[in-house]
Amino acid sequence: MKSFHDLITERRSIRRYTDRPIDAEDVRLILEAAMMAPTSKSTRSWQFVCVDKPELLQRLADCKPAGALPVKNCPLAIVVTADPAKTDPWIEDASIAATYMQLQAADLGLGSCWIQVHGRQTADGTPSDEFVTSLLGMPEELPVLCIITIGHPAEERKPQNLDKLTWENVHINSWTPDTAE
Ligand SMILES: Cc1cc2nc3c(=O)[nH]c(=O)nc-3n(C[C@H](O)[C@H](O)[C@H](O)COP(=O)(O)O)c2cc1C
Repeated sequence: MKSFHDLITERRSIRRYTDRPIDAEDVRLILEAAMMAPTSKSTRSWQFVCVDKPELLQRLADCKPAGALPVKNCPLAIVVTADPAKTDPWIEDASIAATYMQLQAADLGLGSCWIQVHGRQTADGTPSDEFVTSLLGMPEELPVLCIITIGHPAEERKPQNLDKLTWENVHINSWTPDTAE
C-alpha cells in the first residue's frame, strides 16, 4: 500500500481519460470517501449528483466556455453541492468532500480533475451553477461548487516536485521573521 505522502506527491489533475468504465465498487468507495469528510457542526449537508450518461456529459461540459473539457471525455462526473440554508461554511464542507473524492480516486489508480462551477458563467452569461442545476433537475436553491471528473488516465503527469514547494509562503510566529520576539 502506498503511503499517504506518496499518494499526494503522485496525485496530479488528470484531464484525459480512456473509454474504460469505472468499476461500480470504485464508484462506491469514492462516494464513501466523500461522505466521511468532516463538516461544520457535522451537518453533512452535501449532495452529489453522479453523471455517467455520455450525452448528458457532453451537455454538462457547456457549463462554462473554458476549463470544462474533461467533462466531455470522462466516464463519470460527480457534481458537488452543499446546502447554504443548512450550513454557512457550505463551500468548505463541499470542498473537503470533493478533495476526499480526488484522493480516493488517486488511491484507486484513477485520474480526476476539479472543474470549478461556483462563480463561473456559461458562454451566454448564465451563472454556471444555474445551468448545471437546470440540466440535472436539481433544486434551484442549491449552489453547485464544482464537478469532479473521474476516469482511467489517458495521460501521464509527473509527480509534484518537492523542490518547488512554496516554503516562502510559510510563516513562523510572525509574518516577517526578524519582527518575531
Ligand atoms: C478550486 C479549484 C478550481 C479548479 N478549476 C479547474 C477547472 O475549472 N478546470 C480544470 O481543468 N482544472 C481546474 N482545477 C485544477 C487545477 O488547475 C490544478 O489543481 C492545478 O493546476 C494544480 O495541478 P495539479 O492538480 O496537477 O497539482 C481547479 C482546482 C481547484 C483546487
